[in-house]
Amino acid sequence: MSNCADSMSCVILAAGEGKRMHAPHSKVLCEVSGKPMLRWVIDAARAAGIEKICVVASSDDVKQAAEGCEIREQKERLGTGHAVICAKDFLLENQDGNTLVLCGDAPFIDPQTVRDAYAQHMASGAAVTVISAVVEQPGAYGRILRQGDALAGIVEAADCDERQRAICEINSGAYWFSTRALVEALGTLKNDNAQGEYYLTDAVAAILKSGKGAGCFAASGADIVLGANNPADLLLLNEIANRRAIDRHLANGVHFLSRDGVVIGPDVVIEPGATILPGSILYGSTKVCAGAKIGPNSLLSNLTVGPGTVFNASQGYDSRIGANAHIGPFVHIRPNSVIDDKVKIGDYVEVKNSHIGEGTSLAHLTYIGDSDVGRHCNFGCGVVVVNYDGEVKNRTTVGDFAFIGCNTNLVAPVTIGDGAYTAAGTTVTKDVPAGALAVGRARQTVIEGWAAKKLQKYIAKKSK
Ligand code: UD1
Ligand code: CA
Repeated sequence: MSNCADSMSCVILAAGEGKRMHAPHSKVLCEVSGKPMLRWVIDAARAAGIEKICVVASSDDVKQAAEGCEIREQKERLGTGHAVICAKDFLLENQDGNTLVLCGDAPFIDPQTVRDAYAQHMASGAAVTVISAVVEQPGAYGRILRQGDALAGIVEAADCDERQRAICEINSGAYWFSTRALVEALGTLKNDNAQGEYYLTDAVAAILKSGKGAGCFAASGADIVLGANNPADLLLLNEIANRRAIDRHLANGVHFLSRDGVVIGPDVVIEPGATILPGSILYGSTKVCAGAKIGPNSLLSNLTVGPGTVFNASQGYDSRIGANAHIGPFVHIRPNSVIDDKVKIGDYVEVKNSHIGEGTSLAHLTYIGDSDVGRHCNFGCGVVVVNYDGEVKNRTTVGDFAFIGCNTNLVAPVTIGDGAYTAAGTTVTKDVPAGALAVGRARQTVIEGWAAKKLQKYIAKKSK
């Protein structure tokens, strides 16, 4: 198959409207397990070994999301056939090979189905191979007409007679075409049908009529056709994706106490022996190593969690945490942070764009931004790195074995040397050399008897 890769290309139709979704963006960008549907489709084509991929889009958000693919614009949505016509020059560039057409809103098309359909397509010598599925409720899908085993046609739901409407083998909207035959057939499309659209299915009809050979590959599962037209459909896709993801990780030796509220994206890696507790959402390229414990109630996006690390009731984005660290509860790890082994980060601590060295403890109520913190430091409660002066963000450096007292402000840019101390309540504006103590606070004065008069008034008021 890989030696055919050069001759394979793919056109993904992603210019449809989807008003019923009521989404603030294009329908194909609605997310299933935290990943836009269009990216599921692109990744399936890639995983099937197809490198030349063209996305037909009508909006800027889709063009952006189609990063890494060629893009052709469909300015007016005149139907699936018209959408493919918009990619005609892409087809011509690849006309000696075969083109897979996919729908950008059917995320469960899988590489195996794509490959198996390609194998049948090549073996049969057909000019088109329609990928079909048998479903319980054929609803609005195009129906597959067969004569014996052979494909006899596709009829759109809107154009079906009663007998045709009862057919449960439906057109998935995915096809392998001989590219040259596709280009030729596109030239014959007309919009004289119930919806007044240029149907891609009519290209199949034209190929059938020409006698160049048209076949049908019946996919093994019905899910490959599933798309989403409204929020209820989208929830169903999420439920299916999620059930599958958890099943896959269970089979691989990952522990779960419950499926409740656990959401795992398709590209997440979890090593055997890790535990995922209820309410944990793992998105993107998140990786959880063996023996780590995630949750309850945590959100991880593109986060790596090292072996044996606890990540409890916290959120982390685009960052790395080492081995045997203890994070949470209620910690926010913001992008571009590296947390080394055995670090302890406790409640209400935020870390952003910072490196925290091995064994350091940030136990409570602390903000660390744009900082490089050494090994085995102790930060008291309420330390704040003042990283923003209103114009620019500056970096702060803290050496190894430093002790930052409670309620210290570190006004960046500033450096605390190895083993230095800051007294509680200190606002550090100048560098502190290694081994020194910085005290930066007003000396305490005591005014004897000052409170007594006030206190009497207060007690009188409360005693009324
Ligand atoms: C199409 C098929 C139908 C099949 C179904 C599978 C046709 C005529 N019918 O129907 O047989 O059962 O898919 O889901 O092809 N799109 C564009 N531009 C357009 C119209 C659509 O890019 O002008 C894209 C959509 O974003 C979507 C895909 O094409 O990703 C399918 O479009 P959709 O309107 O859902 O096609 P259906 O009418 O459902
Ligand atoms: Ca559809």
